[in-house]
Amino acid sequence: LADAAVHPKILESVALDFARKGKKKPKKAAFSTKTIGKELMHFATEANPFGRAIVEKKAREAVDKNTKGFYPAAYKALEAVFAAFDRKFEKGLELEAKLFAELAFTRESKSLIHLFHATTAAKRNPYAEAGKKEFGDSAPDLIGVVGSGFMGAGIATVFADKDVRVMLSDPNKDSTKRAMAGAYKYFMKKVKRGRLKPFELQTKLAHISPGANMQGFASADIVIEAVFEDLGLKQEILSQAESHAHPRQVFASNTSALPISRIAAKAKNPERVLGMHFFSPVEKMPLLEIVVTDKTADWAADRAFRAGLKMGKQIIVVKDSPGFYTTRALAFFLAEASLLLEEGSNIEEIDQALTDFGFPVGPITLMDEVGIDVGIHVLDEMRDAFPERVKLPHGLDAIQKSGRLGRKNGKGFFTYEDGEKVGPDESIYELMGEDKRTYKFVPAEDIADRCVFIFVNETIRCLEEGVLNHAYDGDI
Ligand SMILES: NC(=O)c1ccc[n+]([C@@H]2O[C@H](COP(=O)([O-])OP(=O)(O)OC[C@H]3O[C@@H](n4cnc5c(N)ncnc54)[C@H](O)[C@@H]3O)[C@@H](O)[C@H]2O)c1
Repeated sequence: LADAAVHPKILESVALDFARKGKKKPKKAAFSTKTIGKELMHFATEANPFGRAIVEKKAREAVDKNTKGFYPAAYKALEAVFAAFDRKFEKGLELEAKLFAELAFTRESKSLIHLFHATTAAKRNPYAEAGKKEFGDSAPDLIGVVGSGFMGAGIATVFADKDVRVMLSDPNKDSTKRAMAGAYKYFMKKVKRGRLKPFELQTKLAHISPGANMQGFASADIVIEAVFEDLGLKQEILSQAESHAHPRQVFASNTSALPISRIAAKAKNPERVLGMHFFSPVEKMPLLEIVVTDKTADWAADRAFRAGLKMGKQIIVVKDSPGFYTTRALAFFLAEASLLLEEGSNIEEIDQALTDFGFPVGPITLMDEVGIDVGIHVLDEMRDAFPERVKLPHGLDAIQKSGRLGRKNGKGFFTYEDGEKVGPDESIYELMGEDKRTYKFVPAEDIADRCVFIFVNETIRCLEEGVLNHAYDGDI
């Protein structure tokens, strides 16, 4: 990395000398088995039509796997690359220009450009001015996370990865051990992929200070709670945090669906309380939904926004209400899918209809991934909030009582072996409708329409009610 170490007095002249001499030309590679290997590989693949056909097939398979056929640009790029082998350079460029022009007018191109504008707009911090008045340019750099379960661990890991110090508290030592092991695994993976130097792993890990209680949390810029989804417990954690907090500490809840104003109902300083709703796995999911109540101070929202930006998250700010934006729209989608199940559609048919539509996973798989207990709890909350519109099948109670938690206990709508999904669990059908449920064929298009329309309708309601500030946020 360094060419020389010199005294500051001669630094400039030595640096200029280096610049004048220019970069050393790399030595010609010596004749070795490595270069022969490369030549052979070139001959077997690119240099002849048979080899190229194999490479093209493999490339197409990889594109199919990654795009599921939904992004035409990747296929056109392949077409341009492989067609260019048999053409002159200019002809290759001509074809590329033609394909590019075709792509520019597709529905996908229009949508991607729209999303680009939406994500760019979302980077603007609407509370920046209020934050600047209170804190200048400084961003939060000490975070307290309460609860080291699935979500708390992910939140702590991402902050540590961005070199933000985190205190992580949980009375359950096993949970904290799992969280630290998870963080280690996450950073180790980065080392193996060459994205982190081995010596940096310990530095990153050292950003997280685990503990059994909230000692030291008084000095945190933001305290984020990620304990069980229980209103009383969350209020208790808020009250504990408030009893020590400095006057500019923000309290954020990572609740999935509990209105923030209910959590803050007994708060001494409700202006410092808001929601920071992350998605699992936090390390991978880019979205952060910041939930503000009518009492949340703008400077507090600024702190959360800046922390989210530091984490590299894509942020939307929404108004407090049951389920906020994401959980609410998703709950209607999941409720419709579970009604279809009760009415007689099969698990695979429902999931397939929605993945064919373009969702990365189907709704039934999603229930297993989120956790059936969490999913049903959220659906119940949404039914209480919107009783005239949320309809739930009776069978869900029986499914929950059967001890199914989804992937986390290897028992859900699907069966699992060593953590791997095997196939639909047929006994679900009995639980759904006891002896009344009979199989009924519903065309895939109807399944997708029912689930997607109810989802879209709800997003429009969120916009009308001002839960969303902008349609762009809903699209993200
Ligand atoms: N799992 C998800 O997909 C998801 C997504 C978004 C939001 N959430 C929300 O995040 C929160 C946490 O969910 P999770 O899936 O991480 O749950 P989890 O069960 O994995 O973790 C909860 C943790 O809270 C700890 N805890 C309980 N009481 C505590 C206390 N008094 N002090 C400190 N820690 C305490 C538990 O020991 C446990 O480790 C919930 O409100 C949930 O609704 C979950």
